[in-house]
Order: sequence, then structure tokens, then C-alpha cells
Amino acid sequence: MDQGSFITLEGIEGAGKTTCMAQLRLLIQQAGKSYLETREPGGTQLGEDLRQLLLGHKHTGMTDDAELLLMFASRAEHLQQKILPALGRGQWVLCDRFTDATYAYQGGGRGIAFSRIRALEEWVQKGIRPDLTLLLDLSVEQGLERAGKRSAPDRFESEAMEFFRRVRQSYLELAGKEPDRIKVIDASRDLDEVLAQITIVVNNFLQEKT
Ligand code: TMP
Repeated sequence: MDQGSFITLEGIEGAGKTTCMAQLRLLIQQAGKSYLETREPGGTQLGEDLRQLLLGHKHTGMTDDAELLLMFASRAEHLQQKILPALGRGQWVLCDRFTDATYAYQGGGRGIAFSRIRALEEWVQKGIRPDLTLLLDLSVEQGLERAGKRSAPDRFESEAMEFFRRVRQSYLELAGKEPDRIKVIDASRDLDEVLAQITIVVNNFLQEKT
């Protein structure tokens, strides 16, 4: 049986994940692969309910630890109910955000020690990690300007610039530590150039797999 891969998309708000996910989906379809497209927090009934709690404004003052644990609660459900079964069937999994977002937002943004996140990652994921991650990188100013044009800000989007600077910095540090897995895409460029970068990275990955 064909073996699937686990691909994730990451980046600060306004980086263009939705458009880039469409390109990723197209490339995987063109390669004739069966795939599951999903997102975090979310991806399951429980995960989507947790997403509402995490992104909505009902619990604006939630503690950093509660936020971290809710992210991993969503992830535990998602892995067991959807991601692992799909990979087991040989499908490709295309996921809008995963644990790199936890390191960047709860680690870099909120200041939770990476070692504590690592402990939860090992506990919940038991060694399951993405095979390829596309990190859409652009300045915080450009990202927030794009995100601001979309809709009313959610609980994360309401954070200060400084928060997103730390998030971006953490993402770039993660990419620096794992350059084989995390490919940085310059998302500040025109759309066709961004899509071209994604095409190169994904096609290279597809070639290495075969
Ligand atoms: P998005 O899917 O529209 O980007 O919104 C998800 C938000 O949740 C985004 O602000 C990033 C945040 N998030 C975390 O803080 N930690 C995580 O582990 C994940 C998956 C998302």
C-alpha cells in the first residue's frame, strides 16, 4: 500500500494559509494521492468545540496553562480519531497548524517553557510528528494588516504586536533547528511567487518519497 505523509501549514495571522492550503491540496491531488484535509485546533467534533472556547471571547482571561492543555486536548482527540486512522489507511494528511503552533504561540507568545510543551508532545503524540511543514513567513505588520481586513479579531488576533513578534521569532527558530522538515516560504511576496515556492517544495518532497 502507498504510504501517506503528514504535511502541516504554519504561520502568523494573515500569512495566507487558506490560499496556500488550496495550492497544497491541488498538488497532492495532481500527484494522485488520497488525502484528508483538516485543522487545529479542531478537526473533530470535540476539537471544534474546544476551538470555539479557545478563539472566542467568552474566556478572555483564561490561564496560559489552561490554553496549552486545551490545545493538546484537541490534538489528542484529533490524532486518535482522524490523523492516525487516515495515515493507517495510507492517506496523506494536510493539516492547517499543528504542534509547531503550540511552541510558537504558547511557548514563544505566552512564555511557557518549551520543556513543558515537549513533555505534553511526547505524552500525546508518542513520536508522531509532521513529515513536512510549510512555514509561511512575513512581517507582523504585513500579516496583521491582511488579517485585519478579513473579520472581527478572535482572542489570539486581539493580542499585541509584541506577542506576534515573539510568535514569528519562535517559528523561525524552530525552522532553524529542523531545516529538513520545516521549509520557510517567503509569504511577503506576490501571490503567484508564494504559490510557486510552495510548488517547488511540495514537488521536491513528492519526488523524494517515490
Ligand atoms: P487559525 O486556524 O485561523 O490560524 O486560528 C487558530 C489560532 O489558534 C491561531 O491564532 C493560532 C492559535 N493556535 C495556538 O495558539 N496554538 C496551537 O497549538 C494551535 C494549533 C493554534
